Amino acid sequence: MIDANAISDLCQKAIDMRSESYAPYSDFLVGSAILTEEGKIFTGCNIENSAFGPSICAERTAIVKAVSEGSKDFSAIAIAGGKRDGDLQYCAPCGVCRQVMREFCKPSFKIYLAKSATDYKEYTLAELLPESFGPENLE
Ligand code: THU
Repeated sequence: MIDANAISDLCQKAIDMRSESYAPYSDFLVGSAILTEEGKIFTGCNIENSAFGPSICAERTAIVKAVSEGSKDFSAIAIAGGKRDGDLQYCAPCGVCRQVMREFCKPSFKIYLAKSATDYKEYTLAELLPESFGPENLE
């Protein structure tokens, strides 16, 4: 169980990370913050590329930062996205990011789509990626 203050902190960190977003092509700024089971937080932002294909979403930036620093067990992620000059949306993770979450996260992994530190929608990975394919399929 993640308490309300911890959720707000995670959402605020995702919102703050939008300032690091590199999104000159879409002008859609996304920040993320992922919480490990140990209580560490790793943050990310989207980083676009002129060749488009190499662009990476905020969620995967946070996940690859965490995994590359030795953290693979996660309990929750907050995502904050919206156009540079617009309001924040309830920005849901793309299909690729959902599949990357599936690699490391339990079905109960929480996904918060943040418009502010206190205004967010909450889902589980199982809700956003039903009938999924994962590491167990290859055992
Ligand atoms: N994007 C994310 O970083 N996360 C999402 O959840 C949705 C989309 C990025 C990718 C691209 O840089 C921009 O937002 C527009 O699609």
